[in-house]
Amino acid sequence: MSPQAPVVVVRNLSKSFGDIKALSGVSFDVHAGTVVGLLGPNGAGKTTLVRILTTLLDADTGSAHVAGFDVLRDKARVRPVVGLAGQYAAIDPVMTGRENLVMVARLYHLPRAEAESRASELLMRFGLTDAADRQSDTYSGGMRRRLDLAASLVADPRVLFLDEPTTGLDPRGRMELWAMVRDLVSDGMTVLLTTQYLDEADKLADRIVVIDHGRIIAEGETDELKGMAGGTYLTVRVNDLSSVEPVRCVLAQEGDGPAMVDDSSGEVSVPLARGAAKLAGIVRRLDEADIAIADIGLRQPTLDEVFLSLTGHVASDDGSCKQTSTEES
Ligand SMILES: Nc1ncnc2c1ncn2[C@@H]1O[C@H](COP(=O)(O)OP(=O)(O)OP(=O)(O)O)[C@@H](O)[C@H]1O
Ligand SMILES: [Mg+2]
Repeated sequence: MSPQAPVVVVRNLSKSFGDIKALSGVSFDVHAGTVVGLLGPNGAGKTTLVRILTTLLDADTGSAHVAGFDVLRDKARVRPVVGLAGQYAAIDPVMTGRENLVMVARLYHLPRAEAESRASELLMRFGLTDAADRQSDTYSGGMRRRLDLAASLVADPRVLFLDEPTTGLDPRGRMELWAMVRDLVSDGMTVLLTTQYLDEADKLADRIVVIDHGRIIAEGETDELKGMAGGTYLTVRVNDLSSVEPVRCVLAQEGDGPAMVDDSSGEVSVPLARGAAKLAGIVRRLDEADIAIADIGLRQPTLDEVFLSLTGHVASDDGSCKQTSTEES
């Protein structure tokens, strides 16, 4: 295979469960040595897609190839080249970390001595050497995820599928796992990861495929997706929460899209296509309405805002304004 040929090729893939269309005509590629982030909310079809690509589930129509092999017709050839760390860790809780890895290696027909040295190497790589001989149900969530990742690498796969690798981890656990994925990619691994976390896709993926209700609704590099969300955003923060609604009112009228309110932080954001040109006028209007601004600034959209604007699952905002300039609530 030439270095340019995609390692994962998905074409027009569909899968239904009864009346539920889990995937409808999904097509995309993953190129060698890159990370594609499949980003979508609960029920979008992410796990269904990963299960099809790793031969655990058959698609209804369409095709998919991994490392040149057809995932529907050539399962036996696909299995040795894919690694899967699933959404629900596939670890035997009553076995130690080491026993789990040796067992997986034996399932791949590695001789015992080789299975044991592979297990030791992976335990070391994922910071589990000290806990290696403890039953794995005593592991923390982060350790369990690392063990699961190690297990997915036992057979030295060419493509790694990570289904929501950091769901349920604390911020430190997430960062540790991200660093491990980055290390694997810098060693040449090709990765398809699914996530509901936009920052995770932003941090790890070269390209992002946004999926919702089984369909791809956008695809691109992080910056391209941010462009789709309307370029620059304006954020205004107030200390007095009773000012949030009047601020929202001004921004909804002046901005180029719905104004989004974060009540907990007192922040209101709105897309602003010609940000700098409009800023002075907005500051003047807020000043005339006697609103004390704690902070105001232009920034790039977050991937959360990108997703919300693409899916339309955005805090509803009809642009209307209540006259709240003086009343207290
Ligand atoms: N075995 C099944 N039987 C019936 N329905 C299923 C089955 N597997 C998935 N579904 C349905 O297909 C849709 C897609 O599910 P899937 O698990 O792929 O979503 P997901 O994007 O992985 O969601 P999550 O983020 O919650 O893991 C959902 O509506 C789900 O209920
Ligand atoms: Mg899932």
